[in-house]
Amino acid sequence: MIRFDQVGKRYPGSNQALQNVSFEINQGELVYVTGHSGAGKSTLLKLIAALERPTSGTVLINNQNISKLRNAAVPYLRRKFGLVFQDHKLLYDRNCFDNVALPLHINGITGSEAGKRIRAALDKVGLLGKEKAMPITLSGGEQQRLAIARAVVSRPAILIADEPTGNLDDSYANEIMNLFFAFQQVGVTVIIATHARELGPQAKILRLHEGLLSATEMNGAPA
Ligand SMILES: Nc1ncnc2c1ncn2[C@@H]1O[C@H](COP(=O)(O)OP(=O)(O)O)[C@@H](O)[C@H]1O
Ligand SMILES: [Mg+2]
Repeated sequence: MIRFDQVGKRYPGSNQALQNVSFEINQGELVYVTGHSGAGKSTLLKLIAALERPTSGTVLINNQNISKLRNAAVPYLRRKFGLVFQDHKLLYDRNCFDNVALPLHINGITGSEAGKRIRAALDKVGLLGKEKAMPITLSGGEQQRLAIARAVVSRPAILIADEPTGNLDDSYANEIMNLFFAFQQVGVTVIIATHARELGPQAKILRLHEGLLSATEMNGAPA
């Protein structure tokens, strides 16, 4: 369902961020994207979510070539994705309920249907009691869980997270990873960029080194 074929990405006025990257991700897989800082992890995730376009090669999402996608078609594609990115900040002047409501309102879902979905998403991440709380009063782990609730409230088929445990203590980090595993258990494709080598259920590992895919493995064993 996600296929990279000889994908390259060069940002204007910058070195090649990705080069000749080819892989496939199937529906329902758990995938880690690993590698050193600057290896191209965030770029790879942005290409999957059509936040960036490749400069060479093809990116296919459900057989749609995103390099050829008209700009007007991008928002429709993006509805398939739930994104937990470092630069997608919470709204600190809105309470938890309103933060999670935002993606639904953008898609025209309001009222009691929205309320039902927002509470379901908050419940999944263990924040149902915090509907009226302001994000600033939450711990780091809780804020990250709120960002995840916002990412999943539109019931995306694909959940993409860029170093979601980067700034968290180990106990919070495990809690967050377990949440992602739970979404994969119910059929969501989960793609996580991470510095560390994570333990957990069986996963595909895409290992990047200086913009090249240096290995594709299943839980440490060759795929
Ligand atoms: N918007 C951008 N403009 C120019 N260069 C960028 C941009 N984003 C990333 N890069 C460069 O592309 C390379 C890969 O970056 P990135 O994908 O952020 O790696 P990682 O997430 O693994 O740290 C780096 O050399 C980085 O400096
Ligand atoms: Mg990054």
